[in-house]
Amino acid sequence: MTKKNLIVFGTRPEAIKMAPLVKAFEQEKNFETRVCITAQHREMLDQVLEFFEIKPHYDLDLMRPNQNLYTLTATIIESMKPVLEDFKPDFVFVHGDTTTTMAAALSAFYSGAKVCHIEAGLRTFNKRNPFPEEINRSIAGRLTDFHFAPTVTSRNNLLRENVSDKNIKVTGNTVIDALLFSVEKLSKNSYSDPEIEDLKKTIDFSKQIILITGHRRENHGQGFIDICKALKEIAIRNPQIQLIYPVHLNPNVQKPVYELLDRVSNITLINPLSYPAFVWLMEKSYLIITDSGGVQEEAPSLGKPVLVMRNTTERPEAVEAGTVILVGTNTEKIVSETERLLNDKKHYETMSKTHNPYGDGKACTRILEFIKSK
Ligand code: UD1
Ligand code: UDP
Repeated sequence: MTKKNLIVFGTRPEAIKMAPLVKAFEQEKNFETRVCITAQHREMLDQVLEFFEIKPHYDLDLMRPNQNLYTLTATIIESMKPVLEDFKPDFVFVHGDTTTTMAAALSAFYSGAKVCHIEAGLRTFNKRNPFPEEINRSIAGRLTDFHFAPTVTSRNNLLRENVSDKNIKVTGNTVIDALLFSVEKLSKNSYSDPEIEDLKKTIDFSKQIILITGHRRENHGQGFIDICKALKEIAIRNPQIQLIYPVHLNPNVQKPVYELLDRVSNITLINPLSYPAFVWLMEKSYLIITDSGGVQEEAPSLGKPVLVMRNTTERPEAVEAGTVILVGTNTEKIVSETERLLNDKKHYETMSKTHNPYGDGKACTRILEFIKSK
């Protein structure tokens, strides 16, 4: 009998990490699979849909400028009702730790569908950090029937919360499936990308490139002011390097970043890049400074050291493997760890070894096999 899957996502990172699963299910004749986007993000989500050629069946179109958590949560739950009543899925797939994840998981539970959580079991055990993601992921976990944990560490977190082992599958992170797909596409001579051509024209790639991203809610305000101070100091003290920062569209990020960094000659501020252009730029970079979850999972596959501008992490694997260092938002620490990587070649080589604890690119195959057995 054909089973019905609904795959739900709303933000850029969820879209990147769910895209390979959508592609994998499209090949499966025993499932009818539909995609529902909440569009908690708009432009940054549409960039991903375009690259992976995904046409959603349901687009809730919810993003509003500078949206708040209360309204977003409430409208997702309300808007999911007609979708779930129309399609009546057997399985609803959600991903990660966003407001979309938590609200869609709750809606799916109300509908009676089985909840499948991709990237399950990551924990900092600090309910306010990352905010509100730690709690979003925990709530989604409580509502979940089948947990797809990227690593053994995340599986063990779930076991400690008394989740039954038979409902957990360790798969690796689907972001590596997406990354390998993109690296392969980029390597084809036939592939041409206007954003990449534009970067080649505007950036001096004979310089060492430091790539920056940042958006976390707990860093809004003073955190971003301290981050910008650090980036400015790094740029002024090291004129031989070039910093490139695709700035997240959240106004709480855009405002301080453009106000504080717009006039520094070796810092280039640009709009968020499409996924292939960003992967291309990661490959061209010497090191990456970020507070992003996804970027710190991708970078070890490309052999790029990462300084993570956060105080806690639900991704301890790369820190333990030595490819990632937590620097928080402390200005001095960001500057000193960056300069250490610029000046200490041995330290750089140790951190840039290509070892990825997050997966081998076959996560979606494992998820599919597990669901087929249900
Ligand atoms: C959200 C997620 C966060 C995730 C991040 C990935 C929550 C609470 N936060 O944070 O977990 O790590 O996405 O990037 O779920 N905006 C645009 N266009 C876009 C996207 C955002 O203009 O394509 C602006 C809008 O003004 C929007 C604001 O950014 O209201 C905030 O978006 P929101 O999804 O609420 O928060 P993020 O900081 O993006
Ligand atoms: N990314 C992108 N374009 C950019 C910056 C990042 O496509 O300009 C990708 C990046 O490769 C990673 C994902 O977006 O896969 C991370 O998204 P984000 O940092 O917004 O969210 P997080 O992973 O922290 O939840």
